[in-house]
Amino acid sequence: MKTRAVSPSRPRDDGQGGWRAGATLIAILLWLLSPGAQGAPARAGEDALPPAAAIASAHPLATRAGHDILQAGGNAFDAAVAVGAMLAVVEPTGSGLGGGGFWLLHRASDGHEIMLDGRERAPLAAHAEMYLDADGAAIPAASIDGALAAAIPGTPAALAYLAERYGRLPLTRSLAPAIRTAREGLPVDAHYLRLARFRLEALRRSPAAAAVFLDRGDVPAEGFVLRQPDLARVLEAIAGQGRAGFYEGPVARDLVEGVRAAGGLWSPEDLAGYRVVEREPVRGEYRGTRITTAAPPSSGGIALVTMLNILAGYPLDGLAAPVRDHLVIEAMRRAYRDRAVYLGDPDFVEVPAGMLLSPDYAAGLRNAIRPDRATPSALLPGIEADPAGADTTHFSILDRAGNRVAATLSINLPFGAAFVPPGTGVLLNDEMDDFSVKPGVGNAYGLIGAQPNAIAAGKRPLSSMTPTFLDDGRRVAILGTPGGSRIITMVLLAALDFQRGGSPEEWVGLKRYHHQYLPDVVGYEPGAFDADEAAALTVLGHRLEERARPYGNMQAILWDRARDRVSAASDPRGGGSAETR
Ligand code: GLY
Repeated sequence: MKTRAVSPSRPRDDGQGGWRAGATLIAILLWLLSPGAQGAPARAGEDALPPAAAIASAHPLATRAGHDILQAGGNAFDAAVAVGAMLAVVEPTGSGLGGGGFWLLHRASDGHEIMLDGRERAPLAAHAEMYLDADGAAIPAASIDGALAAAIPGTPAALAYLAERYGRLPLTRSLAPAIRTAREGLPVDAHYLRLARFRLEALRRSPAAAAVFLDRGDVPAEGFVLRQPDLARVLEAIAGQGRAGFYEGPVARDLVEGVRAAGGLWSPEDLAGYRVVEREPVRGEYRGTRITTAAPPSSGGIALVTMLNILAGYPLDGLAAPVRDHLVIEAMRRAYRDRAVYLGDPDFVEVPAGMLLSPDYAAGLRNAIRPDRATPSALLPGIEADPAGADTTHFSILDRAGNRVAATLSINLPFGAAFVPPGTGVLLNDEMDDFSVKPGVGNAYGLIGAQPNAIAAGKRPLSSMTPTFLDDGRRVAILGTPGGSRIITMVLLAALDFQRGGSPEEWVGLKRYHHQYLPDVVGYEPGAFDADEAAALTVLGHRLEERARPYGNMQAILWDRARDRVSAASDPRGGGSAETR
């Protein structure tokens, strides 16, 4: 598997500080002056059909459920319902009926592209001070653990919406595999056990969560079979009644009663009033590659396009590795700074998307990047702040008609709020922590925010989820990943590799690095930089911190129209599977 360090398209550094900023500047200028520096390649086979369907997800049972639905006559959207529901059952650490997400859709018959916004909403009783104490200080973990941390889920409504508006099969059919697995149970894997240990104390505080996810109050032993009969009943209610099966009637009553009894703010109106929103995806262009990606309330698409717009001004592949890494890191820094300052729920705040997506704006940001020096984040006007890992899940689907789905779904931290309203089996999210609980105070990912992402009744918290399509005229990619604040930079590194002709195996296997403006450090996976690169980046003024463990769980598909080939890959860091059939 190719890694950044051995990429043949990246000339090696010749030793500590052995590259020259002057030569780099000349190379940049020559490239900028060259004709056709950003020309788009010819488009090929746009009316062709893929020779195979492909699904990549974080769990083999979810990938299989999706393919079974395709074989039963469903399209990619029906498969997305089956995969999303199965992940709710088999990967409860990452997503579920108690959470939300973004589904990026491409319908082949008419080219219709839309982002289904099934993001959670703050309850109507939510307010800006709800996680602050009498002195105005943020109460530790109040927005992370327990019923008060949960926003109103969007995933059940999105599953019903997808099936009714875009699918061909009834929910009774597409939800059947998840219902069966919830009832019959499945042995948990090492990932589950590790995260159960991580969230043990919080899970113990919710008796209904502990009864399902722990074994007599403790982390289960390997081989433990996770059975979820209550969740199966809720899935059956959705299968039979659509969204009403979750947001009205007995399930809604149990959810609200359970949340309120545990100190949460939900009301029946919150559930009855929840709606999926169709949003125009964010679009951009990077050196001939069309980017279609997540719109606000995700910050992912805007930040991704901002970074690519900045980087489009450099001949990245002709640069020595440390120079290239430096420029990518500086682009990350600036896009995350803008994320903190400008972004929030577009139904509540004016998001200056036109400005942030403009190549002219990016040119201004690029002009302020010194080729020979890191810009301390403290010198960029913004906000003050602090880090963590994350769960969430992503899957990608391509059917034989050319329909595509890239979906990133979440309950936020592993096991979400670690709270289950009794009798429902529904593990609730802690997505309220994705709001800026207090301007300048970092959330669980160290992400900071300002007024645009302040808590308000009925508002959707800003997200980093970045389901994305890439299309260079010959090749189409469908990809995304979990990983909290690092999602956007993981997608960026994969997009850069797509543009260089890489394969799904290469994108999911890339060694990753990340900068998010604050804290002012470059976090990187072991192996992302060799010793010379690390030394050169340090000389430039970057503070490097090697992460203790790899991160991300990217699921990617490539349809190479020109070669009439479909391939898919699941991140080697996770236990998922990618299958073409
Ligand atoms: N909860 C992670 C995200 O939405 O970015």
